[in-house]
Amino acid sequence: MTIAFMWAEAHNHLIGDHGRLPWHLPADLQHFKRTTLNQIVVMGRKTYAGMGRPLPSRTNIVLSHQTDYSVAPGVLLLHDVPAVLAYAAAHPQQETIIIGGAQIFALFKNQVERLYVTKIDTSFTGDTFMPALDWAAFEQISLIPGKVDAKNRYPHAFITYQRRSK
Ligand SMILES: NC(=O)c1ccc[n+]([C@@H]2O[C@H](COP(=O)([O-])OP(=O)(O)OC[C@H]3O[C@@H](n4cnc5c(N)ncnc54)[C@H](OP(=O)(O)O)[C@@H]3O)[C@@H](O)[C@H]2O)c1
Repeated sequence: MTIAFMWAEAHNHLIGDHGRLPWHLPADLQHFKRTTLNQIVVMGRKTYAGMGRPLPSRTNIVLSHQTDYSVAPGVLLLHDVPAVLAYAAAHPQQETIIIGGAQIFALFKNQVERLYVTKIDTSFTGDTFMPALDWAAFEQISLIPGKVDAKNRYPHAFITYQRRSK
């Protein structure tokens, strides 16, 4: 099984503002879709509530302490890290991709093997930041520069890191 993180961050590791993404960058949404399609996506209750609907053609797992939290049909509501790891271990053909937010990334930072990060070279205001990771434990395996155009106005790059073998 592989546990991965996928997120987009701007300057100062900013990832969110008032329950939303601080930017509009459709090229990143396309990259996110390509990477996560048919995989398992794991998100916090706040990120799920901000999206308003499950992501199609993916197994959606929502983490919440609330046992009576209502999710859309087909969405799996889980309540702790071991339950997510057990689900991931039982579905080794799929990548289990943690898609945030900050609270949920922090929970899995010791288990994560691969990082898909979109770095946006712009400053925005916001209230949610990517938690610190043990970056020395990871090596960069690819970097694809994004194209700036009328619809994607912020310079950005899609970068993948893999945990170094011990
Ligand atoms: N830029 C990006 O790539 C990206 C990605 C994702 C999200 N975001 C942004 O990040 C923000 C949301 O992040 P956030 O950190 O505030 O919230 P979050 O991580 O999405 O969700 C937090 C919720 O997860 C549940 N939770 C936390 N720890 C848990 C545990 N140990 N066991 C079970 N459930 C647990 C709790 O739900 P209950 O309160 O229901 O118990 C908690 O309130 C939004 O602005 C969003 O747009 C950005």
